[in-house]
Amino acid sequence: MKLRKRILTGDRPTGKLHLGHYAGSLQNRVALQNDFETFIIIADIQALTTNFDKPERLKQDVLNVTLDNLSVGLDPEKATFFIQSLIPEIAELTAFYSMFVTVNSLRHNPTVKSEMQQYGYNDIMYGFLGYPVSQAADITFCKADLVPVGEDQLPHIELSRKIVRRFNELYKPVLVEPQAMVSKVSRLVGIDGNAKMGKSLNNGIYLSDDAETVKQKVRSAVTDANRIKLTDKGNPDVCTVFKYHHAFNEHEVLNISECCKNAAIGCSACKSNLSACINGMLDPIWDKRAFYEQRPELVQEILMSGTVKVRAVAKEVVREVREAMNIDYFSL
Ligand code: TRP
Repeated sequence: MKLRKRILTGDRPTGKLHLGHYAGSLQNRVALQNDFETFIIIADIQALTTNFDKPERLKQDVLNVTLDNLSVGLDPEKATFFIQSLIPEIAELTAFYSMFVTVNSLRHNPTVKSEMQQYGYNDIMYGFLGYPVSQAADITFCKADLVPVGEDQLPHIELSRKIVRRFNELYKPVLVEPQAMVSKVSRLVGIDGNAKMGKSLNNGIYLSDDAETVKQKVRSAVTDANRIKLTDKGNPDVCTVFKYHHAFNEHEVLNISECCKNAAIGCSACKSNLSACINGMLDPIWDKRAFYEQRPELVQEILMSGTVKVRAVAKEVVREVREAMNIDYFSL
């Protein structure tokens, strides 16, 4: 029996996490860990959907993503970290669900479609097409109530909800329908103004970037292209830097908007202001990262003990699932 409502969320370990992840999901996780039982999945199998040809990178990426999560303030006393591939029940549920999820519903998933474009796939792997089913298993194996995610994940949560409803109606009502929770800054543009900050687009500011790197990246960010001279009035609505002020500089954002519109602040000063603000926000994050980086055994222990705890939950839910499906006819 779970006493508190449960959150499940997490990341694919395919590289470092950036400010888009921070604004879109990590900040929310940190705030919610006090009120919910929080499970953080390091989705290494999902990472293989695109990185199956370089599995040797996974170990380092698993550690990096764990460090990113710990550095922003997820507290291992409150949040349970675990590794997807070490919970075989997730693969088992994925197989059960894939019997009644249609191929067309997966092919029309807008996030899968845009990722296909982003990676330049014309034909796609079976596992890639089906990863939203596996994600539904990530969410439902522990009967999660709430899933804090960035906006791009909404189609996956919607599919999870459909799967739960279908399962409960086909067999027995044992699964819990999860709710998505999207944060107020749901999508952060890249510093190049590209609609999404992404690893493969090389337009991100990473949580592990140092102060000088942040300054340089902000300096190179795209602003209102029509504002050429200092005396030109700017349009914050089309400015990437302004979008970042909006996400990370709540106190000054109105003032900056006014100043930009009246040519009372130049782009360069506005950028310095933003990098100071981001660096101020990252400062405690760097400290925590350094703490955990110096203690690799502790990070490993957090992952191992979390995985063991979660596995027990998974076994119990899969027992209920098999019973609901009447395939509990044999127990070894
Ligand atoms: N698809 C998510 C991402 O790309 C990662 C993820 C895997 C996830 N399993 C999950 C997120 C379960 C929320 C719940 O960021």
